[in-house]
Amino acid sequence: MKNYLKKILLTALWLACSGGCASFQHLTTYQEDKKEGPKAADCGSCHVLQFNEWSDSAHAHAYQNVSFQEAFQAGGGEECLGCHAPLEIRQGNTEARSFNRDEGVSCISCHLSQGRMHGPHKSSALLHPHPVQDEDGFYLSVEICAACHGETYDEYQVIAERKEVPTCLACHAAPRQRTASQGTNFFSNALVAFEDEVSTRSHGISLDKMELAFGSIHLAVLGLEQTLPKGRVEIAITNNLPHNLPTGTFGEKNIKVTVRLLQAKKVLGENVAIVSNEQMPLMNGDVKRITIALADTLQHVDSLEIRLERHTTLAGSTPAILLLAKTISLSAEKMR
Ligand code: HEC
Ligand code: HEC
Ligand code: HEC
Ligand code: HEC
Ligand code: HEC
Repeated sequence: MKNYLKKILLTALWLACSGGCASFQHLTTYQEDKKEGPKAADCGSCHVLQFNEWSDSAHAHAYQNVSFQEAFQAGGGEECLGCHAPLEIRQGNTEARSFNRDEGVSCISCHLSQGRMHGPHKSSALLHPHPVQDEDGFYLSVEICAACHGETYDEYQVIAERKEVPTCLACHAAPRQRTASQGTNFFSNALVAFEDEVSTRSHGISLDKMELAFGSIHLAVLGLEQTLPKGRVEIAITNNLPHNLPTGTFGEKNIKVTVRLLQAKKVLGENVAIVSNEQMPLMNGDVKRITIALADTLQHVDSLEIRLERHTTLAGSTPAILLLAKTISLSAEKMR
């Protein structure tokens, strides 16, 4: 936009604001004793896309999560909330929040510090309804994840010292191109018109929304033995992730391989084997060979779908998440 237009709009905004901008103070202040503070929905009125993505993430549900509530009520103390409903992590210590706990890992947990909203991008807006600390590199580093994912971070560091690996966000959050705030009415549309679009990442961090495993987990079919009517498949799983498979000590995690027997895409039978769990994870570079005996007849089967899945038996969690899949067709020749 032309410079003189910018000036006119700025003056108009400044006039409009001089009486009312103090009303934005609630975004950066909280009263612990009053148990009140900025809500995620307050941020969502300008950061519409970020709010929508976050609302659907594991972080937004870190407190309400049924399995967390079960464990928390069965004896977990305030110390759990330093990660499941934290106040501000930017200072390095994770302290429990006394308000809006149901919002789990909320916007202010990651972004608010000392009365300013910290973010990684160069500020381009004409007006900031709240103070902004721009170009804060913390948000592009793995350190922000380390605050709560300590063990995964330690695993990651061992690999990162040896070779170049993607950041946590590069794998766990889809890329986005957008302005920091999004207009919802005439006034805010005019404001956003001055903001530059930046390359950033989705806030919808959640395993069930991840792309398949980015080639970092490898599944090879070593052999298929068909001693009709039954058979056996031998496979090898290689973990090239910069952390364990599975990673994290909390919860209950099983990585399983499922072999589906298909006829014209219809599932005729299923065989399951455990690859690893949180007590015996596959570390980076580990290869696990597994032979799976197929319990059902292969007579009418035209192909096998081999699926690597992450399972949990915890209440309220997504029961099975597909990490990767491979289909092999059984030639009609061999089947006879
Ligand atoms: C777990 C920590 C975390 C939480 C919770 C979080 N953010 Fe972010 N946010 C980040 C990180 C990391 C980036 C930088 C992403 C990048 O540029 O790759 C970011 C970027 C941003 C940006 C600028 C770039 C963009 O995404 O358009 C805005 C605005 C923002 N967050 C607002 C919010 C709001 C509003 C909420 C709550 C609804 C929220 N954040 C919750 C970590 C968090
Ligand atoms: C009235 C609108 C409005 C509200 C409400 C609002 N913001 Fe912002 N926010 C903005 C604008 C405008 C910017 C500046 C963008 C720029 O300079 O490029 C911004 C910048 C940011 C940034 C820096 C983004 C980056 O790209 O580095 C973060 C982080 C952020 N806000 C978080 C929040 C959080 C958390 C809340 C709620 C507690 C919130 N904002 C509430 C309008 C708003
Ligand atoms: C303030 C603490 C905190 C920070 C910072 C944080 N996380 Fe989390 N994260 C959690 C908690 C708590 C959970 C468990 C939520 C649940 O399942 O109830 C979680 C869950 C996850 C999950 C599992 C999602 C699923 O669907 O089970 C992934 C992946 C994840 N975080 C990645 C990240 C990445 C990447 C970063 C850095 C950008 C990050 N987290 C920063 C606390 C945090
Ligand atoms: C090369 C891509 C990649 C990178 C880099 C990466 N992850 Fe992951 N992560 C994955 C994949 C794929 C899974 C799913 C397999 C699993 O559940 O263990 C996963 C799983 C997870 C889980 C969930 C474990 C579970 O099953 O509950 C968490 C938490 C997590 N990662 C955190 C992180 C953190 C923190 C970092 C950075 C220190 C990071 N990841 C770096 C790809 C990656
Ligand atoms: C240092 C940070 C931290 C603290 C403190 C913490 N957690 Fe967590 N919690 C996490 C992270 C990160 C995850 C998700 C990834 C993983 O398993 O590492 C998680 C996941 C969980 C899960 C699994 C959720 C699911 O559905 O998969 C439960 C249950 C849980 N925590 C309970 C607790 C309880 C109870 C306490 C207090 C005794 C507690 N946590 C303290 C960081 C923390």
